[in-house]
Amino acid sequence: MGILRQLLFGKYLLITNTVSCGLMMATGDVIQQHSKYWKKYSQKYFPTRVMAASPEDEKTAISNAPKHDYTRTRNMTVVGLLQGPFHHWFYMILDRVLPGKNAKSVVKKTLLDQSIASPTCLAIFFVGLGIMEHRKVEEICKELNLKFYNTWKIDCCFWPPTQCINFLFVPLQYRVLYINAMTMVYDIFLSYMKYEAHCE
Ligand SMILES: *[C@@H]1O[C@H](CO)[C@@H](O)[C@H](O)[C@H]1NC(C)=O
Repeated sequence: MGILRQLLFGKYLLITNTVSCGLMMATGDVIQQHSKYWKKYSQKYFPTRVMAASPEDEKTAISNAPKHDYTRTRNMTVVGLLQGPFHHWFYMILDRVLPGKNAKSVVKKTLLDQSIASPTCLAIFFVGLGIMEHRKVEEICKELNLKFYNTWKIDCCFWPPTQCINFLFVPLQYRVLYINAMTMVYDIFLSYMKYEAHCE
């Protein structure tokens, strides 16, 4: 327990948080990339509309199974790692400024989380990926215009209830695990917004 406590709460917390942000982002992206394949796969075995599929169609469907885009996952991991330290310091400062777990400070923390931390993390995400893709400033701004607000809206629907459940129902020793799992689910959505969503 000593080592685990050190990792989760001690001086290595910054590293733990950063690495887990990167890992969750990588996992989310891998799942998102393969969801296309799972969709095709399920259509093959549970055809809904495509009843007339010939054996040739089936073959092309299988050979069309998307190859994994490793650069994409690598880039996602990098922005995940970049978000880590910000997250870490933000929540440390938040706990200093608003100590205690009474309803009032929890509501305030949630509001600050959604109004400061979320937009910052989304900015790190979209701008970071845009820079890695060697995009021009105008192109990055255009993407932010298209996607930022929509992503943030979903963020605001996702995180407050998730944190509420965490706070009310998840036993203390499982909270880190629970938050990491939910981060991964959220990162699947981020990967979707970045690479699949057509917001025009
Ligand atoms: C990932 O980053 C590399 C290096 O900056 C860039 O060349 C590439 O286009 C990016 N790929 C994706 C899918 O974002």
